Amino acid sequence: TDSIQENVSRTDVSEPAKAPAELIAREAARRRTFGIISHPDAGKTTLTEKLLLFSGAIQLAGTVKARKSGRHATSDWMEIEKQRGISVASSVMQFEYRDHVVNLLDTPGHQDFSEDTYRVLTAVDSALMVIDAAKGVEEQTIKLLNVCRMRDTPILTFMNKMDRETRDPLELLDEVESVLKIECAPVTWPIGMGKAFRGVYHLLRDEILLFTAGGERADQEFEVIKGIDNPRLVEMFPLEIEQLKMEVELVHGASHAFDLEAFLAGRQTPVFFGSAINNFGVREILNALLEWAPAPRSRDATVRSVQPTETPFSGFVFKIQANMDPAHRDRIAFLRVCSGRFERGMKIKHLRLNREIKVSSVVTFMASSREQVEEAYAGDIIGLPNHGNMQIGDSFSEGEMLQFTGIPFFAPDFFRVVRIRNPLKIKQLHKGLQQLGEEGAVQVFKPVHSGDMILGAVGVLQFEVVASRLMNEYGVDAVFEGTSISSARWISCDDKRVLADFERSSAGQNIAYDAAGNMAYLATSGVNLKLTQERWPKLTFHTTREHA
Ligand code: G4P
Repeated sequence: TDSIQENVSRTDVSEPAKAPAELIAREAARRRTFGIISHPDAGKTTLTEKLLLFSGAIQLAGTVKARKSGRHATSDWMEIEKQRGISVASSVMQFEYRDHVVNLLDTPGHQDFSEDTYRVLTAVDSALMVIDAAKGVEEQTIKLLNVCRMRDTPILTFMNKMDRETRDPLELLDEVESVLKIECAPVTWPIGMGKAFRGVYHLLRDEILLFTAGGERADQEFEVIKGIDNPRLVEMFPLEIEQLKMEVELVHGASHAFDLEAFLAGRQTPVFFGSAINNFGVREILNALLEWAPAPRSRDATVRSVQPTETPFSGFVFKIQANMDPAHRDRIAFLRVCSGRFERGMKIKHLRLNREIKVSSVVTFMASSREQVEEAYAGDIIGLPNHGNMQIGDSFSEGEMLQFTGIPFFAPDFFRVVRIRNPLKIKQLHKGLQQLGEEGAVQVFKPVHSGDMILGAVGVLQFEVVASRLMNEYGVDAVFEGTSISSARWISCDDKRVLADFERSSAGQNIAYDAAGNMAYLATSGVNLKLTQERWPKLTFHTTREHA
């Protein structure tokens, strides 16, 4: 019997049942992978919590919130570090709703705004833009929307906090259109605001959803009144209905009707009004996400484009969460599945290293349970533990050489010069910065005309993280000093002679090379950058660069 058993288990190991193509196609089609783009305080955390509440992934409001305030209480990186376990779990939230699997990828904001925030958006299929209706379009939203635009990611818009005094809704739409250069198609329209907020009118369904404050529970039902001409409305609030009718006429005349194709092409955004804290308008957003937002789409690789329904597994790493255990330099690589089916224990190929790995432990992100999920499909995110050999932009497959593209580095906005207290540690410093640079924690530039090392980041917390990690992982006590650099651009030009001339010119003083050996121009001011661009029309100044 022993030998029979052995035979059986051998067959099991060497020939795992291939997932049928229909199963893979069905699973991919029911996935929605998205991120929230917003300026701090617009209501991202509140809305995330309500979305989880709806799906039954959490039972009680306050769960996500508590986590956020816990992290807020301290600006000390070491403290944040202690909560790493939590932050890994909260960086991807997977839940089921109406027979769909929703993956909500966190886009870190506030102090932990970093290049990760941008790069997360390369792993989503759609984005939800949350705007504080009292404030309108704010700076961070503009930046994040520009990142979405690189891949024409479809955007849904939620105008939040209608229970407060807000700006005029028409004016808000106008601002989105002119500042963000995207057409607005209002789907719901607010009736009043602040204390006189009565609800929203659903323009496509001709229904009025009555507002009531509260909404700590997901099963809260808001009363629906059919038809804008319903006599009950005039009885209930005659003034507001008069106003609504006027506005709706205006909206129909002046704004765009919802057009699914324009939305999917990233040219138009459906707009919803509501109040996240009152759970009002949240269900409408979730439904729109399921009905209109795209399932995983094809992804470009260097050799060809990859369909989510292809049966062989493939995916790419878009984020590294480091140092789960400082003593072991443990890292989790966040991999977005692009095709096929991932199963725990399967062998996949790490293409950059041309090495096969067996994935026996893997982190998955089901928000509702602690169970380990055994499989993943296109659109899902899995966490691969590793010791630093995985980098951002790395691709994995079942063997085919597919290097996924579109996972860029972003030109930093903040710069520091690195100094070390103990010159004997220079080697460790270089090694540490090299590895942290590869991991995407920070960007490292070496100016050609000085021995300095310049660090670049899109959020200032990145510097704190790097200082703390240099100390803990590499034993290097580094201090970062301010510089006169204000922006960086990667330089390219087909004509090598022009590049050589550029290096020899006075502008050459500002040239540096990044960790991957790419030439960059470090400008001292906006004016300096503009003048240099004008003087060197044959050079291209890039705000992003692809991974090597
Ligand atoms: P963020 O993650 O985008 O930074 O925003 P967050 O959800 O933390 O919300 C920021 C503030 O806005 C919070 O208030 C939150 O309660 C409030 N808020 C969110 N949605 C609504 C809404 O629909 N209406 C109103 N009136 N307020 C809303 P806070 O005072 O900063 O925090 P808290 O002490 O109330 O939790």
